Order: sequence, then C-alpha cells, then structure tokens
Amino acid sequence: MGGFSPEWLALREPADHAARNPQVLAAVGAHFAAKTSLTIVDLGCGAGSNLRGAYAALPARQHWTLVDLDAGLLVATRERLADWADEAREQGEELVLSKGEHTITVDTRQADLNKDLEWVLGWQPDLVTAAALFDLTSKRWIERFVAALTSQRLPLYTVLTYDGRETWKPPHAADARMLAAFKHHQRGDKGFGPAAGPDATDLMAEAFRKSGFAVSIGDSAWQIDERRGELVQTLAKGIAEAVLETGQVDPATIADWLASRTQSASALVGHHDLWARPV
Ligand SMILES: C[S@@+](CC[C@H](N)C(=O)[O-])C[C@H]1O[C@@H](n2cnc3c(N)ncnc32)[C@H](O)[C@@H]1O
Repeated sequence: MGGFSPEWLALREPADHAARNPQVLAAVGAHFAAKTSLTIVDLGCGAGSNLRGAYAALPARQHWTLVDLDAGLLVATRERLADWADEAREQGEELVLSKGEHTITVDTRQADLNKDLEWVLGWQPDLVTAAALFDLTSKRWIERFVAALTSQRLPLYTVLTYDGRETWKPPHAADARMLAAFKHHQRGDKGFGPAAGPDATDLMAEAFRKSGFAVSIGDSAWQIDERRGELVQTLAKGIAEAVLETGQVDPATIADWLASRTQSASALVGHHDLWARPV
C-alpha cells in the first residue's frame, strides 16, 4: 500500500469519505452548532482527507492545524487543499480557503505525535481529530493521549480506526490464515510502541469512559467492490506484502490468495468512528 504515500491516501479517500459514519459526524456537528467558528487540530493528517471529509458538518469559519510526521505529506496537503477549494490564497504561513459557505484557514506543522504529543495538545483547540491513525498507536500511548485530553477537557472526533474485520468475496481457503497473519503484522511497532491495531477503539473508549467523558461509536466499514477495483487490488497487494513479512503463511499460498484477489473481488474492511466529549 506504499506506506502513507500521497497516491495511496488519494486512492483510499473516496472510500474513506463514503464509509465515515453519518450519525457520529452529525453528533459532532450538533455539539458545535451554536458556534460561528472553530479551531481544530488534525493528528496524522496525511494529505488532508479528514478536513475534506468533516468540514461541511462544522461551523462556517474554521481554523485547522494539520499535523504530520512526514514533511512531504504536508506539502502534498497544501497542494490538494488548494486544488479542492473554490478559492485558495496564501496569507503568511497560512492557507486561506473558501469552500461553499465555509472559510477555512489552514496551517501545517511537522511533529512526531509520540515525542511531541503534549506540545501539540498544548495548542488547546476546540476539537482534536484524526483519521485512520489510532490503530498505529500503542495501548500505552492511547492511555497517555486520553489522559492529556481529559485533563484539558478537549473533545476528540476520530474516524476510520481499523477494527480487525475483513471479509473477502469470493472466499479463499487461506482467508483465515491471511487475516491472522495480517493482524499480527498490524501489532508491530509503528513508532508508538507495540501497536494496538484492532483493539484501539475499545481501548480508547474505555479510557475515556473511566475519565467521565461521554463516548459514541459508529461503524465505518469500507464495503469495496470492482467499482473501486484499484483500491481493492492495492489493498490486497498491501496485505499480501505484510503477511509475507510475518513469515506465518508460505509464499505460494500468499501468491495464490493474491491472484484470486486480483480477479474480481470485493471486500469489507472494518473500521469504527468515535466521538468523545466532556460532560
Ligand atoms: C493511514 S495514514 C492517514 C492519513 C490521513 N489522516 C487520512 O485519513 O488520509 C496515517 C498518517 O499518520 C502519520 N503518522 C504516522 N506516525 C506518526 C507520528 N509518529 N507522528 C505524526 N504523524 C504520524 C503518517 O505520516 C500518515 O500521514
């Protein structure tokens, strides 16, 4: 899947936007409906997909600080946002965008969310958000993150955290072994300690509830078929590469599984969205 290349992020963006849970998004929008402006920090912003997927539910004036470790992605983000907006101009270090009725100012910052987490949360936005990030983080990091948010009473809206569900059609004899090995790979260290992978949403929800925050969770599974053929195939290739790295499935079986996925195939890949706010 090319790590987090701009090409992979662009390929998954339409599926991500289609999968985003509408009830959870509406609850976030309702929470801020009385405000005319909002400040938002997007963690692990990639190429800015989360802003494009969420802005329409939020107040008319928004200021987004987009944070990522990868400086190249931050450059791609600015370019993608300028192309996406109805109008875009630079104002000092900020990008000023008009999109429909919305005016959105954006700044981008390079940071390592493992090392620099407290610095980033110290900006005290109205809303912290992230997309497709927390399955990369560890149980320990999630507990530290939730403790920081709850002590500052900062709400979190996060989407598309992988939950371990994966169903392929047509089925293949190696599906269960492939999924078990893929989940093993998901738990490797992605820069935050051993990754929480499919447990991330449950861990986060439990930590928030213990701290007295209200939590809502909604399904945001990808349901992808030949209409998104390139995504299906790139996904299958990425899974095959990850499984190969684990050494848990023999290469011939992986190749056979992948060959069956590069013909016509559809997949359900499970994700969850979460909205946590102080009460
Ligand atoms: C799966 S991508 C999701 C990107 C984007 N949120 C989206 O939905 O398209 C995960 C993102 O997290 C970023 N990331 C990974 N580790 C990070 C770290 N330690 N600090 C900051 N960003 C990180 C990656 O560079 C990548 O952009």
